[in-house]
Amino acid sequence: MTDRKKDHLDLAFQAQTQQPLTGFNYEPLFSGHPTNNGIPTLFNGQWLGAPLWISSMTGGTKEAANINRNLAQAAAEFKLGMGLGSCRPLLESKQAWTDFDLRPIIGDGLPFFANLGIAQLEDYIDNNRFAEVNDMVAGLKADGLIVHVNPLQEYMQPGGDRFRRPPLETIQQVLQLANCPIIVKEVGQGMGPLSLKALLELPLLAIEFGAFGGTNFALLELLRSDTPTQSKIDPLAMVGHTAEQMLSFVQHWVQDATVNIKTQHLIISGGIKSYLHGYELVQASPLPAVYAMASGFLAHARGDYAALRTFVQSEMNGLSMARAMLQLP
Ligand SMILES: Cc1cc2nc3c(=O)[nH]c(=O)nc-3n(C[C@H](O)[C@H](O)[C@H](O)COP(=O)(O)O)c2cc1C
Repeated sequence: MTDRKKDHLDLAFQAQTQQPLTGFNYEPLFSGHPTNNGIPTLFNGQWLGAPLWISSMTGGTKEAANINRNLAQAAAEFKLGMGLGSCRPLLESKQAWTDFDLRPIIGDGLPFFANLGIAQLEDYIDNNRFAEVNDMVAGLKADGLIVHVNPLQEYMQPGGDRFRRPPLETIQQVLQLANCPIIVKEVGQGMGPLSLKALLELPLLAIEFGAFGGTNFALLELLRSDTPTQSKIDPLAMVGHTAEQMLSFVQHWVQDATVNIKTQHLIISGGIKSYLHGYELVQASPLPAVYAMASGFLAHARGDYAALRTFVQSEMNGLSMARAMLQLP
């Protein structure tokens, strides 16, 4: 007690604040400290422990097996949804299967999704090989398929793919051919209002934002390329839409009576740096939503599970406190 009081005197001048975080009203009178961790959230008829999703990342490299095992263990322990990184290697050979075969770790009853790029889907459709995609999803015991739409990444990637037709057409074909739910996402650029409207009118399980403001794969491909440093920042890598902007586009379309919304959920991702940021966006969403992170999890998932566990536990605790003490104005 005496030590604590001494700390107060020593630290008081360091503990000065400036402007509060905006976005919420802080209402401290209406709840005790929460005893449950997280916020139970329904996604596709399954209960998550929190509106929190592990965004698609990796597989098929030496380090990927450990990262994916850690992520899957966190999904299982805290009841989170999870998307796999691109499963393209599995279409070509079964060598990397164990990197992606996470259902035995996650267990049944939690959302677990395979992932493929629009370029591969275009190829498999055109070559009448879509059955192999359905077989892969079934083999993984995944609940469905995430389709990533990444024209700028492919454009900037040395040797990247070129789409022969508009991604919207490919997505419509995928919806016809797939025998599982479909989620569509970007990979760090986000999408503008017309793309979002087109997706919202399709019977998708979810749209994952992959918004601008966090990891950006167009930029990442530029950093990988051999071009001289001064030409690395292609201005096209810098276009896009933040999660806030994308949410306001969705709000606009949901309020427009001429738009027939068929998409069920939003997965709000791209540049979500803290649970409070994610919680605010989820609360403001006009569709049932979860928030998601890629790099936020990756930063804690490359070593042993204990580090990731500590991180996820603090997200869950923070979310419970946020729900107890904060309200949208
Ligand atoms: C290492 C890494 C690998 C990724 N690989 C994929 C991928 O294979 N498929 C995909 O749809 N998105 C992929 N992404 C993009 C993320 O799912 C996410 O949309 C993007 O990173 C923005 O999230 P963040 O700002 O929280 O990192 C990857 C992201 C990271 C960091």
